[in-house]
Amino acid sequence: MSERQKRKDHWQAVALSGDIRGKPKRILFDGQPLVLFRSAQGIAALFDRCPHRLVELSTGKLVGGEIECPYHGWRYDGEGRCTAIPGHVGEMPHYRVRRFGAVERDGVVFVSSGTPEAEPYLHCMQGKNVVVRRVRSSTQSTVIDAAENILDATHTHFTHKGLLRGLGSKRHLVRVEVTGGEGWVEACYTGEDRQQGLISRLLEGERAKTIGRFRYPGIAELVYWGKDGLALATTFHLRQADERTVEGVGWLIGPRQGWLGGIKALAFKPLFNIALRQDRRVLKSASDNARFAPPALPVIGPLDFLRRDIAAIIAGELPPAAEEPRVHQIEL
Ligand code: FES
Ligand SMILES: [Fe+2]
Repeated sequence: MSERQKRKDHWQAVALSGDIRGKPKRILFDGQPLVLFRSAQGIAALFDRCPHRLVELSTGKLVGGEIECPYHGWRYDGEGRCTAIPGHVGEMPHYRVRRFGAVERDGVVFVSSGTPEAEPYLHCMQGKNVVVRRVRSSTQSTVIDAAENILDATHTHFTHKGLLRGLGSKRHLVRVEVTGGEGWVEACYTGEDRQQGLISRLLEGERAKTIGRFRYPGIAELVYWGKDGLALATTFHLRQADERTVEGVGWLIGPRQGWLGGIKALAFKPLFNIALRQDRRVLKSASDNARFAPPALPVIGPLDFLRRDIAAIIAGELPPAAEEPRVHQIEL
């Protein structure tokens, strides 16, 4: 199956349900402008270009669940059919705007350029008894760099000093097992001590293991297991909106433990947003710098366990870890 064909079989998370209320919203989807809105048939995704004079439909307004172009007022329903040409008397000609598949699940909007049969993948604790918060981010970067950033434990000592890691420089020997299969790779960390960063101190008990996983086409997830089960998890859906922008929609997940669980999950979101800002800063710095000649391929260092696997998965290929699982020892 070609990479293009494969993508058609997938849903991609593009927005939070809360982003699409009374107004249409324009997004870039695989480099194409789309308009999202609530139609009579439910959430709709159309190519954001009026076939008449090519104006952005998203700059128009919603009238009775249809989108009205701001130029001459032509209207389109959720299926992309032109339903009104103001001033025209007589039979309506059949004009259409290209329509994309769109569904809404658990507060998130998914779009596809094909018609996937499977339900969209939401997050790693789907169907479990958990509390979730949803977040959205926009980062100047590429999907591979942004995904690697989420899964890379080694940058936390520097980029997130004090937040995800302690202020001291003490490290512990940690075992990392990398395994993979068709469309996924994961690194499992064991032997970590309790983390001294603010987030960990507030939210976690003793840590048993951490899993960082990447899934096709751009999903990065982290799962922290404590002695008594799930401590925290996050699943982030990333996509390349345009050449320099990665849009992310994600779930922050915690175990449901009565009111305490709810409070912890609430505390997690603002702290997580600080971490997100710190990451955005380094990723933007790298992206800005990448434009200068000579063009440079990034060095894949000895601790960059997942880089080649993520690249292979994004390209629609089997990751190296699928053929040969690896074990590393590092100081973390
Ligand atoms: S450009 Fe949209 S109605 Fe004319
Ligand atoms: Fe980070």
